[in-house]
Amino acid sequence: MSFYEFFYSAIFYILIAIIAIVAIHYVYFLSNRNYWKNRGIFSPDSSLIFGDLPGQVKGNRNIMYDFDDLYKKYKKSHAAIGIFNFRSPRLLVFNTDVIRDIMVKNFKNFPATEFYGKIDGESDPLFGNHMFNQIGEGWKTSRQELSPAFTNTRIKAAHPIMENVVNKMKIYIKNEIAKKDFDGLDAKDLSARYTISVVSNSIYNIDPKTFEGGESELLKVAQKFLAPSKKFMFIFMLNSLYPFLLKHYKFSFSQPGSQKFFFDLMDNSIKHREASGVKCMDYLDHLLTLKQKREISDQALASHGASFLVDGYDTSSTTIAGSLLEIARYKNVQDKLREEINEKMPNDEDFNYDNVQELEYLDQILYESLRMHNPALYLARMCTEDIELELPKDKKVKMVKGDLAYIPVQSIFMDSDYFENPTQFNPDRFSAENGGVKAYMDRGVFFPFGAGPRMCPGNRFAFAQAKYAVASLVKDFELSLNPRSNPNFEVHPNAFILHIQDCYINFKEIKN
Ligand code: HEM
Repeated sequence: MSFYEFFYSAIFYILIAIIAIVAIHYVYFLSNRNYWKNRGIFSPDSSLIFGDLPGQVKGNRNIMYDFDDLYKKYKKSHAAIGIFNFRSPRLLVFNTDVIRDIMVKNFKNFPATEFYGKIDGESDPLFGNHMFNQIGEGWKTSRQELSPAFTNTRIKAAHPIMENVVNKMKIYIKNEIAKKDFDGLDAKDLSARYTISVVSNSIYNIDPKTFEGGESELLKVAQKFLAPSKKFMFIFMLNSLYPFLLKHYKFSFSQPGSQKFFFDLMDNSIKHREASGVKCMDYLDHLLTLKQKREISDQALASHGASFLVDGYDTSSTTIAGSLLEIARYKNVQDKLREEINEKMPNDEDFNYDNVQELEYLDQILYESLRMHNPALYLARMCTEDIELELPKDKKVKMVKGDLAYIPVQSIFMDSDYFENPTQFNPDRFSAENGGVKAYMDRGVFFPFGAGPRMCPGNRFAFAQAKYAVASLVKDFELSLNPRSNPNFEVHPNAFILHIQDCYINFKEIKN
């Protein structure tokens, strides 16, 4: 065979292979198209390849914007619609009663998150054993082990840590202000330095010195953990595209090297605490009690520690950053909060943990910040036991094992049917006269910490540390938005929890 004959026949076979692959994929994608229609559920005529979530599939827009487009288009006419992530069917639920049924009433059928069964417990024991990844007895045990860490007494025991870190934060801000080229502080960076210090001191009894110029290894590792990762999104997408191929493939969520880092950290902290004989009611003490009473493994202890760190530091710092951003933007809100602080704590000695927890307007600010900047952009529940899910008007949809329901949290929290002028930061909507936050929670339209048995166990800890930080800063500084800020920032395309970015705050010390 001459070179040209070989060349042309190779081209021929390559073309045949390409046509075959395209044809197989066409049939593969098409074969699922009636998944929802067969169950009597409306499904938009979406793109065959990109499904209904083109932003996420192309990697150029966060999934919450795709959800929001669908929400605005179909929410008035449908309680839920059937959509496709590539070709994987998902139920996108708009009706808040149906959402509550999924998360609370029918929890038995929908006990799992989107991550369930996807993270490998062996190659990634840190996150493979995380509660998000568990159901059944394993999940119950993890929750029972974590919950006692959040009693009032233990949260209050963390107060000296919060106070110490806040004092360092204030000195840091004053030093920054004194610099000639001071041009505001990044709200998220400032808040992350605070929460990582509180959480690290509480779990490991280690001060990462984030306000003292030191490069914190812990902060870097924690940030790396939660940084939107292209690789993670790619595998996640492959899973939607070829679920049968990846049925037995499991992710490693932890970054290389971080396993050893967290195991050593926990090991050293426990040895150090045991040797010191110190007794205090912090989280490390809780872990030590677990070790003695339940004889849980070192691996499980390290996993609990890492989980507290990763769950606790980023979500809380986003909440603080969101509140600081809005307080800086709306002077009337800031003045009202400072008035509340000065009225309830007129003297410096009155400024303490217990009194700060009594600040009601500050609660309203934090809730309003969680409404507009909720760390959980969306929630998901996986069906593990078939059920006929009830919809309004006596309709039903059959959900089978493995089906996933998406809950578009941010769209609901920004819906003008539930929240008047939703783009307006208005903490008064949560005032006691208006029925408080409870009125919205009871209606099922506001659930910043989730709902049902999987509801966030760390919510009170999160509020306690956020309130102490925000109150301390507003008492001592006047905040304003730095002109280089972009308060209407776009959420990063790969993020699965919110990252507040490009928001800078000017601080001016209030001298009494
Ligand atoms: C303002 C800060 C926080 C927000 C907005 C938040 C939000 C949430 C939400 C929405 C869920 C439910 C997820 C779902 O239903 O799939 C959740 C679960 C969880 N959160 Fe938080 N959280 C915060 C702080 C914390 C803190 C401080 C901790 C612990 C130190 C924590 C630990 C957890 C854990 C372990 C779960 C899983 C519970 C389970 O699956 O049973 N969170 N959080």
